[in-house]
Amino acid sequence: MKIGILTSGGDCPGLNAVIRGVVIKGDKLFEDEFIGYKDGWRGVIENDWMTLPRRRVRGIGRIGGTILGTSRSNPFKDGEDGAEIVRRHMDENDIDAIIAIGGDGTLYTANRLFEAGIPVVGVPKTVDNDLDATDYTFGFNTAVEVATEALDRLRMTGDSHHRCMVAEVMGRSVGWIALHSGMAAGAHVICIPEFPLSIDEICTYVKRAWDRGRAPLVVVAEGFIPRDAPENFMTYELDEFGRPRFGGIAETLAPVIEKQLGIESRATVLGHIQRGGEPTGYDRVLSTRLGTAAIDLVHNNGFGRMVSLRGTDIVDVPLTDAIDSVKSVPQDRWDEASVLFG
Ligand code: F6P
Repeated sequence: MKIGILTSGGDCPGLNAVIRGVVIKGDKLFEDEFIGYKDGWRGVIENDWMTLPRRRVRGIGRIGGTILGTSRSNPFKDGEDGAEIVRRHMDENDIDAIIAIGGDGTLYTANRLFEAGIPVVGVPKTVDNDLDATDYTFGFNTAVEVATEALDRLRMTGDSHHRCMVAEVMGRSVGWIALHSGMAAGAHVICIPEFPLSIDEICTYVKRAWDRGRAPLVVVAEGFIPRDAPENFMTYELDEFGRPRFGGIAETLAPVIEKQLGIESRATVLGHIQRGGEPTGYDRVLSTRLGTAAIDLVHNNGFGRMVSLRGTDIVDVPLTDAIDSVKSVPQDRWDEASVLFG
């Protein structure tokens, strides 16, 4: 078969390991030929691609980012008939199937194309870990490791200066990175969108830590807004898929804490540092397994489906499962973390 691969949406450590897994297994077992579309759906729409022979994926499993490039292009933007363009370009290049590696936006597009008759399989990725159709997404473990190391560093400088440190981590509208990195670093309070604390509650936890002689560490997920925040406390622009482009809550929260408690407070936004760099061993293994399973899915005619992690097994599920519901932090995970606050 001749197969097109693309990586779309925000980059994520492990993308290259997926590509490597697909290409090596496809080459060895099925004698497949591969092309890589450049910059996600943009490359498919504009017929911009590169050949992907086996030698091209040599050694890339440990490298962050994506050798194919990525973008948040949407083939259905502004009423375009994305499926017709994709089909035309696939025919021109004799492409039998597409493997789309991406998050909810990418998988949503993949499903629309599948419904229009395009043979697509999906591989879920996102540092946010917000896809319900898989237990974990690759990239999440790396992001948590990076954030944890940064939080440890912030605690040290906070201790030296007797300051409250407010650290903002990614996650879009869920608090997984905040919950895991905050717990790992022993944060005194973790603020996540699923269980919004009030400003008073945050300050109470900060004060308790302060009164015990600790330099308070507050971890805040980018999508968090305090329960009692006034309207327009935070405003965000929208991206190509109409989702808020988050960033800045820590910088808003730190002065509020400082004003209310009189404790010098500093904000740090970790931002894209959490997404760049090499994948952890865990993420390399998970993404390689998802890649080798994706090529099997193609050869088993599993179009309209995506590979997924359930427990320790790689399975496949309909693409619609990925787009139907967001995986939020559940009550029991919040309860076991929040009992440690203050
Ligand atoms: O979805 C992954 C993610 O890193 C989110 O955590 C974050 O809100 C968003 O992407 C940032 O997107 P961009 O790289 O386009 O600014």
